[in-house]
Amino acid sequence: MADKSRIDEPTGTEFVGHEWDGIEELNTPLPRWWLWTFYATILFSAVYVVLYPAWPLVERATAGVLGWSSRGELVEEMGRADLARAGTFEQIAATDITKLPADPDLMGQAIAGGAAAFKQHCVQCHGAGAAGYEEFGYPNLNDDDWIWGGELAEIEYTLTHGIRWEGSDETRSNYMPAFGDVFDADQLDAITQHVLSLSGKAQSNATGAELYAQNCAACHQPSGEGDQMQGAPALNDAIWLYGDDPAQVSQQIAYPRHGAMPGWSDKLDPVTIRMLAAYVHSRGGGEYAGEATDEVAPETGEVATDEVAVAPEDGGDGQL
Ligand code: HEC
Ligand code: HEC
Repeated sequence: MADKSRIDEPTGTEFVGHEWDGIEELNTPLPRWWLWTFYATILFSAVYVVLYPAWPLVERATAGVLGWSSRGELVEEMGRADLARAGTFEQIAATDITKLPADPDLMGQAIAGGAAAFKQHCVQCHGAGAAGYEEFGYPNLNDDDWIWGGELAEIEYTLTHGIRWEGSDETRSNYMPAFGDVFDADQLDAITQHVLSLSGKAQSNATGAELYAQNCAACHQPSGEGDQMQGAPALNDAIWLYGDDPAQVSQQIAYPRHGAMPGWSDKLDPVTIRMLAAYVHSRGGGEYAGEATDEVAPETGEVATDEVAVAPEDGGDGQL
């Protein structure tokens, strides 16, 4: 055993007194900075334990004299956000959707709120940019081609009651009949060509034109203008729900898809639905009552007036 109190000459440090095969251990003190940091952390944790929740107990952690909790902080922050929004929400709730554009500030806030809700509830079908997915019959919401109407109140109604949705008695609904068993292959081909001719993509033919007038014009209108009252899409434009490939068109004629969208009245509050309608309307192609009526009047004048009168009433019916 080496002498414990011996000093190592070059470093001036004491030996610990252990020796292995002639190698001895020095008793080098911990560096000052390290030691003070160490004491400081102990002090910090002691103060922390007193002030904040620290020791986990059965039900909850020790409270800490400040009474802070992460849940409390969240509740407080949400309360603040709610308060900030509450005024806006109430204002939107109290404003008929057709009157929103008259208050650009409120409309702007509704659109912003709708954009946020759209990200959460709509993108899976209509896409992040609301451009839809043609192959699945999820319509593009950015264009001015509307199946069920592009006025604010019409969009709000569509969102509230859905399309072919079992959850609402007032859902938008119309079932195109299946012509697969009605037409033979030649007739199906002829009518497909005629349908494509309405948008200039094929040559029409007498058989197809006649079949169309008899079987299709009531819903899709004589020149394929479509009818929003019935949710019959226009066939004379370049915008397709299911694609303009002859095979897809004849598939739809033979076995219509009957695309469906759930109504949102059971998932979302009326204000969120109103904001979503404002957002969709703002994407482009949104129509205003006067404009649309003028446009539709010559062909379906009676129907269009009905629609304008009925939709807002129903849309607001007991909802707000
Ligand atoms: C499960 C898929 C799905 C989801 C989710 C969905 N939609 Fe739809 N949406 C559809 C389908 C399918 C149609 C077309 C139905 C038809 O054939 O008429 C449609 C139609 C619409 C229309 C009518 C367009 C027109 O031309 O009249 C609007 C407006 C609309 N959706 C908005 C929304 C909004 C806003 C949300 C989110 C709250 C949403 N959709 C969520 C599937 C969906
Ligand atoms: C009772 C009304 C009704 C009748 C009659 C009807 N349709 Fe339709 N049609 C619809 C509706 C509603 C849709 C919407 C698509 C769906 O089924 O989801 C549609 C969709 C279509 C589409 C798809 C359009 C697109 O954008 O992709 C084609 C094509 C079409 N119909 C052709 C016809 C032809 C041809 C006839 C006659 C042989 C016909 N329809 C008769 C109501 C009707």
